[in-house]
Amino acid sequence: MTRELEAVGGLAVQASLFTSRRLKASGDFEADADCVLFQGDCLDLLRTLPDGLAKLVVTSPPYNLGKEYESRLSVDSYVAGQRRVIAECVRALDPRGSICWQVGNYVDNGEIIPLDVLLYPVFAELGLHMRNRIVWHFGHGLHASKRFSGRYEVVLWFTKTSEYTFDLDAVRVPQKYPDKRHFKGAKRGELSGNPLGKNPSDVWEIPNVKSNHVEKTIHPCQFPVELVERLVLSMTEPGDWVLDPFLGVGTSAIAALIHGRRALGAEIEPRYMSIARERVRAAEEGRLRVRPMDRPVYDPAGRTESSPPRTVQLELAE
Ligand SMILES: C[S@@+](CC[C@H](N)C(=O)[O-])C[C@H]1O[C@@H](n2cnc3c(N)ncnc32)[C@H](O)[C@@H]1O
Repeated sequence: MTRELEAVGGLAVQASLFTSRRLKASGDFEADADCVLFQGDCLDLLRTLPDGLAKLVVTSPPYNLGKEYESRLSVDSYVAGQRRVIAECVRALDPRGSICWQVGNYVDNGEIIPLDVLLYPVFAELGLHMRNRIVWHFGHGLHASKRFSGRYEVVLWFTKTSEYTFDLDAVRVPQKYPDKRHFKGAKRGELSGNPLGKNPSDVWEIPNVKSNHVEKTIHPCQFPVELVERLVLSMTEPGDWVLDPFLGVGTSAIAALIHGRRALGAEIEPRYMSIARERVRAAEEGRLRVRPMDRPVYDPAGRTESSPPRTVQLELAE
């Protein structure tokens, strides 16, 4: 967990939490590691994991768009490849665990195919239970001229069973009218909303990582840390394993480690893996800056309070 103490020179700085030991990182799965960063094909890592290990699998897989890190496949081959990875993730998932598969659209000759529509049957056939289809809305992206510009992607959230870890209080957001009270009946005068805040709903407005974002690296489509933080905080407990089979530059690992969870992931592209390692090192040394979870989305009319980037420090699981 992180603690923000004071603002100095426009940057929020954190108290050093004086963790009693150094982060234990490993390139292959080791049960007593804090962080496993495997460079290679995710199936090679997944096959080494014990059954039921991870409390949360969170990932954004390749979208089959012909990005620099993927070769374009037929839709059937793409789904078959995803099925192999998803089946291994389900095997490695704790019975109280969750899988969050974050996807957008596959675009073919100007025609869009929503990947969640293609992949939903794979999860359903593996016996998973869908809890939400979260719409992640963001303000920036390509400007389309022959269709409306895409400004959302989705997070498909499934659980393995109906007994699953979910802590809503950990991720409540401020009420719109925090002082609103019941005006009649037995509860007259009492606050009508939950004083801990409201349910963040299944539509999340979180800026995507574009050039001026504090977390931007060379990766063309990295997660914002705050998107994964919300999933980690609500679906896992301290010490749990968070697994990302398509780790990219390590965002899921960062989000897990800054909240005292253990992180595990694979990335096939060496350049991205070396950035993931450097980001984890920067987090351990208190040098990594992220966009704070509670920062309002920028309003060009200047009606939002400014809140500076947050420098994170790790708290290691006992
Ligand atoms: C959409 S990106 C994920 C980005 C990530 N969420 C982040 O925040 O950096 C998908 C990643 O999967 C990697 N990848 C593609 N095929 C892979 C495979 N078979 N095993 C492991 N990683 C793979 C790509 O190199 C790419 O970095």
